[in-house]
Amino acid sequence: MSQTHARTSRPDDLASQLEAGFRTAIIAALAECTSVAAAQIDPLIKAAANPIFGDFQANFAMSLAKTLGKNPREVAQMVIDCAPASLLELCDPFEIAGPGFVNIRLRPETIATALAQMDNPSLGVSNANHTHTVAVDLCGVNVAKQMHVGHLRATIIGDTIARLFERLGWRVHRQNHLGDWGLPIAMTLAALRRAKVDIARVTLDDLNAAYRNAQAQGRDDEAGLAAAHATGVGAHRIAELEAQHEGAAAAIADAHDTLRRLQSGERGVVADWQKLIDVTMHEVYETAQVLGVDLKPEHNRGESFFRDRLAPTVDAFVKANLAVRDAGALVVRFDGRERPLLIQKSDGTSLYATTDLAAARYRVQDLGAELVVYCVDARQRDHFKDVFDAVKLIGWTVRPDHSQASLVHVPFGAVLGADKRPLKTRSGENFTLKALLDEAIARGRREVHARAASPDAPTASLSPSELDAIGRAVGIAAIKYADLSSDVGRDYVFDLDRMVSFEGDTGPYAQYAHARLAGILAKATALGATSGAIVIATPQERALALNLLRYGSAIEDAAAQLAPNRIAAFIFELANTFNAFYQACPVLRGSDEATRASRLHLCDLTRKVLADALSIMAIEAPSRM
Ligand code: ARG
Repeated sequence: MSQTHARTSRPDDLASQLEAGFRTAIIAALAECTSVAAAQIDPLIKAAANPIFGDFQANFAMSLAKTLGKNPREVAQMVIDCAPASLLELCDPFEIAGPGFVNIRLRPETIATALAQMDNPSLGVSNANHTHTVAVDLCGVNVAKQMHVGHLRATIIGDTIARLFERLGWRVHRQNHLGDWGLPIAMTLAALRRAKVDIARVTLDDLNAAYRNAQAQGRDDEAGLAAAHATGVGAHRIAELEAQHEGAAAAIADAHDTLRRLQSGERGVVADWQKLIDVTMHEVYETAQVLGVDLKPEHNRGESFFRDRLAPTVDAFVKANLAVRDAGALVVRFDGRERPLLIQKSDGTSLYATTDLAAARYRVQDLGAELVVYCVDARQRDHFKDVFDAVKLIGWTVRPDHSQASLVHVPFGAVLGADKRPLKTRSGENFTLKALLDEAIARGRREVHARAASPDAPTASLSPSELDAIGRAVGIAAIKYADLSSDVGRDYVFDLDRMVSFEGDTGPYAQYAHARLAGILAKATALGATSGAIVIATPQERALALNLLRYGSAIEDAAAQLAPNRIAAFIFELANTFNAFYQACPVLRGSDEATRASRLHLCDLTRKVLADALSIMAIEAPSRM
């Protein structure tokens, strides 16, 4: 998606300062031949492809020269000659290269000043001070069903996007759109009530089994029966299908009846239904806690929350002439799209889409969200396309202050097994999320205990329970980072060996860089060494510093693009530049006091930024590993 909010210009955002300086220079250079509108001027500042050429480059000359009918190198020189003092003092003398690139090398003092400016709790990230509001649809589990890997994604991608906006100072409403009001839950409820099960005493596993049985029982194979008749498969097969059809019909009738009684508020049914929810949510919150995800009862805005808004929703569409009858049902039609959106079934009941229409209105008009982000499986793309279009048609994207809200689906891909097919257990079942997390934690622990066995490991002196805690953090980081670092829309292969590795683009690698930094800083404290003014002398210090200075814009971009993987990319790059720095630049040993103070300061800032970035993904940053 496009930018959701404009980039703010901050003193530590050097790219934007260069941009402003060059824009002034270009306008001045064009003063005589004003065929170009000032607003259209883009200096095209990019990070340099290779540090040999500088830190940044300005690529405006080529296209500008074409418009002016001049030589690009000449245009570049013209602009440089008009550079304002505020731009010149930031940089070493500019160089024109190739067809007309302007190579920009920042003066070491510019970098040091910018770093000093970001060295406060903001760490260079802008803050909206609650002037913007976003609603994030996350988790969305179905009651009576075990959480599976898909819900992992809906939960952690949603939580990260919510944290991202929280970090930017937005008002954030987490919305857990529980599946708790439709026919599937009524089927489970009906089956449990038929079997006279004490719902309060069951586990989620029991519920899950009941759910599956109810589903299987209710899978009415009417089409199969018709086909059997048509193709004449034989009396025995037809009798079997007929029996199944009847059984299914009875179960479905019972489920419909239960749904009706639930929806009309019959006390006993509602009480049982509430127990189902409690059992389910107990486990969901436990899992959320393991994952470090901020998900609490107050975030529940399940389908049932909208129960009293469903009829008015349908009415509103009818009154606006946007819903038409189609074989007894009510549908919304869209220009140029064959598929209509069904908002009421012929029996008068509403559906998943109806709750989503009511929910969208609530988020925009009651919560006042200017942006509503839906972290839901890519397979629901059509559903959201239709829902969003229907909401726009009826005008519910208009906020209380009359501005327009945007509704955005962040469709995520599937988690695949090694065979590149949706992840299944050996017996062909869906992996429960719990099983997956338990395995990751066990792997993390093994890894951490093994490392602690070597006598010079920083963790050698820790107790087994301390090592367990670190191992748990490593296991969870492995899974979360792997998920969040892949392009949201893409499927990825679940490979625990790769995820838990301390090398490569992994969570444990980032955590390890952090622990290393924490180790250096702890040692410095023990030695009484203090940090001081930053001096940028070596290429590695420069690279590390420039990386740190990109933090604010990396976070803003991740939010604007709703792309958690951009945070991960930033983290990986920072961990890499730090490791390169650490290899080339001794911090505590072999350097004079000023250098040591400067490098300690760089380490301190790097540790803070790394921990901050990891915290947006709610990944723990242990100080020893
Ligand atoms: N319960 C749904 C499912 O498991 C996901 C809910 C997503 N959110 C929404 N507003 N529809 O498929």
